[in-house]
Amino acid sequence: MTIASAPGKVIISGEHSVVYGQPALAGALNLRCTAQLQNADKGLVIHAKDLNADLIYSPDDLQAVTQQQPVHQGFDNLAGAVLSVQDPNDIAYSVSISSEIPIGAGLGSSAATSVAIVAALRAHLDQPFDKQDISDLAFRAEKIAHGTPSGIDNTVASLGGLVHFQAGESRSISLDHEIPLIIANSNIPRNTKELVMRVRQRKNTIGPFMDDLLQHMGDLTQMIESSLLDSDLERAGQLFDINHGLLDAIGVNHPKLAQLVTMAREAGAKGAKLTGAGGGGCMIALVDESSKDIVRAAMNLPGVDIYQTSISGRGVELR
Ligand code: PMV
Repeated sequence: MTIASAPGKVIISGEHSVVYGQPALAGALNLRCTAQLQNADKGLVIHAKDLNADLIYSPDDLQAVTQQQPVHQGFDNLAGAVLSVQDPNDIAYSVSISSEIPIGAGLGSSAATSVAIVAALRAHLDQPFDKQDISDLAFRAEKIAHGTPSGIDNTVASLGGLVHFQAGESRSISLDHEIPLIIANSNIPRNTKELVMRVRQRKNTIGPFMDDLLQHMGDLTQMIESSLLDSDLERAGQLFDINHGLLDAIGVNHPKLAQLVTMAREAGAKGAKLTGAGGGGCMIALVDESSKDIVRAAMNLPGVDIYQTSISGRGVELR
């Protein structure tokens, strides 16, 4: 049996402004997905513990996935991950998946799973452990289930640490220390496409002033990156707060996120902001050792899921 694991991701700064060519910064979480792969009968069985489901692919089903025909709608990236490494006719595996990453919360659970599966299968076949190759193959798999992903999620899940993203190009920044972070998932559904459209409409109505805001958001991303690398949590936290203010200004805040951000700050977080598309979904609070338990307790509202985690240097790993 071969076992591999990969981290989820969080957008630290640069959501929305990245759509207009500004830089974005994402980080690997120490919430991980693990894939265990072993030989089995022809075809593929995926035991997805967190979905409470077994996804079964006959050789014909695998052929269908290679032709972009959906078999298990929304989850075919998992079969795609195996198919990115091997021909449908050679596949005879069972894969068990277990994950600490919440599903559908914008925290990269899908890409982490694809990356873990690709890494486990390549190790099983004695192929070299090359993180960039693993990322590229997982990206192919992600396109099967998710259309046009940006590539941020698979890059972070493979390389770990911080990833700087701009105009489709990514640069990985290794991290030699962990950055403590609390993530709160409001569980309020949001539609990324709609929120991106909302920002575009505001930009059309308001004009160049919005361009200035988006430019400032890019500048903040650069400053947050250097503050985190210097372990200057005080400065990074204040920059988080400013970034959240600008995300509110461009129209993607939500009352629940605003409440969580305020509670985190009042409880002693260094800073707090929404993360991802906004309009619901998750927020993040930057904390230190002394404040993390108090902040966590303060944000514990009904219906909200809290993850006490950290940004970590660990990318994909074999075990
Ligand atoms: O919805 P999420 O958490 O995957 O984040 C979307 C980030 C945006 O910048 C709003 C959109 C994008 O494609 O970059």
